[in-house]
Amino acid sequence: MIVQEARELAQKSMSKQRFKHTLGVAEMARKLAVLNAMELDKPLIAAYLHDVAKEVPIKRQLELAREWGLLNYPEDETAPKVLHGPIAAHWLKQERGLNSEICAAIAHHTLGAPGMSRLEMLIYSADMVEPGRDFPEVDKLRQALYDDLEKGTLVCVEHTLNYLKHNKQTIHPLTLKTYEDLQRRI
Ligand SMILES: [Fe+2]
Ligand SMILES: [Fe+2]
Repeated sequence: MIVQEARELAQKSMSKQRFKHTLGVAEMARKLAVLNAMELDKPLIAAYLHDVAKEVPIKRQLELAREWGLLNYPEDETAPKVLHGPIAAHWLKQERGLNSEICAAIAHHTLGAPGMSRLEMLIYSADMVEPGRDFPEVDKLRQALYDDLEKGTLVCVEHTLNYLKHNKQTIHPLTLKTYEDLQRRI
């Protein structure tokens, strides 16, 4: 798939508002890719496609996840908003033969994963700090990512964990594993 096709597929799969977010993720992905001397195609394709399954009704997402064997933790069913990444990745791989590295970045954009590649880190982080995001500390996270992709991603995961704890929300085991893995690696 080429970048333009990914962009068109995204545009027809989602609301105007979500497409605007997607364009923001693509913009941030481009910036981080340039800073890290990475080739642009994979980051841009992953950015455009990361939320293509987000607007599939949750009930249908659960059915698909069950059918495709994507339910790995009890939290996947109790907090099913985390399923849209794995669902999009599985569908794009099976139906469109999308490159595995791009699929991994799409699959792991919400929760992270242990052993993330630079492309996976880049999409996880770009989703969190794209120019449309506005929360306290977003500038601090952006700067940490501009300084160092790996350390910046750790700062993003840490921020997410603190936010979830503070708001007494469920912490998915994959996010904890991601945090521990990045700490070990850095
Ligand atoms: Fe998402
Ligand atoms: Fe997103």
